[in-house]
Amino acid sequence: MIKGFIFDLDGVITDTAELHYEAWKNLSDAMGWHFDRGLNESLRGISRMDSIKAIMDHNKIELEPGMVEELAERKNKIYVDSLGGMTEQDYLPGARELLTHLRNEGFGVALGSSSKNAVMVLQQLNAIRYFDFIGDGNTVAKSKPAPDIFLYAAQQLKLPPAQCLVVEDAEKGVDAAKTGGFYSVGIGPKERVGHADLRFDSMGEATLFEIKSHFKDLF
Ligand code: BG6
Ligand code: MG
Repeated sequence: MIKGFIFDLDGVITDTAELHYEAWKNLSDAMGWHFDRGLNESLRGISRMDSIKAIMDHNKIELEPGMVEELAERKNKIYVDSLGGMTEQDYLPGARELLTHLRNEGFGVALGSSSKNAVMVLQQLNAIRYFDFIGDGNTVAKSKPAPDIFLYAAQQLKLPPAQCLVVEDAEKGVDAAKTGGFYSVGIGPKERVGHADLRFDSMGEATLFEIKSHFKDLF
């Protein structure tokens, strides 16, 4: 039986991909590196340090570890500044409704995000209240596609993975859910999250009714 839901944040509860894009683009322009929306897409779900390494690999750049950290921090400052403008209006359509519904029905609800800024994003959205546990980029050492963040969140909900459903928009996030033995709901195109147990094009379609209808034997 499904008793808990573990949500990814960026691309599931709110769409921060554009803000991450702007911040990486800003840094890349300053460094003379190439960065485009295609490359930004490939960073979905992966940590800040893995992201900068991917951008540097793409540009065939090698730098001292300290310098890489400094540049990632510079990007983060730009990103965090842009979060200041985020409000309760910035949920992805359907996200707040699903969270409210799950709360009303008594499911355990956790966040399993790779972002070290997750708490700030949830605060901007006034969404802290929906979660029994918030797992973010500071919670575990190994980030997605490792299943660690989801396993930790399930443990906090006191549920085994087989009783939890992970909601993810990233290919590597669905990989993490599957490796951890979770049921998965993918949000986005088939090419990205077609390997999830159930897929919707957008959060607006991911209602509790639709989810229950698909996983009939599990509710
Ligand atoms: C993920 C995003 O949720 O968080 C990634 O999909 C991002 O694009 C990662 O790189 C880390 O975010 P932050 O806020 O810690 O830089
Ligand atoms: Mg995501």
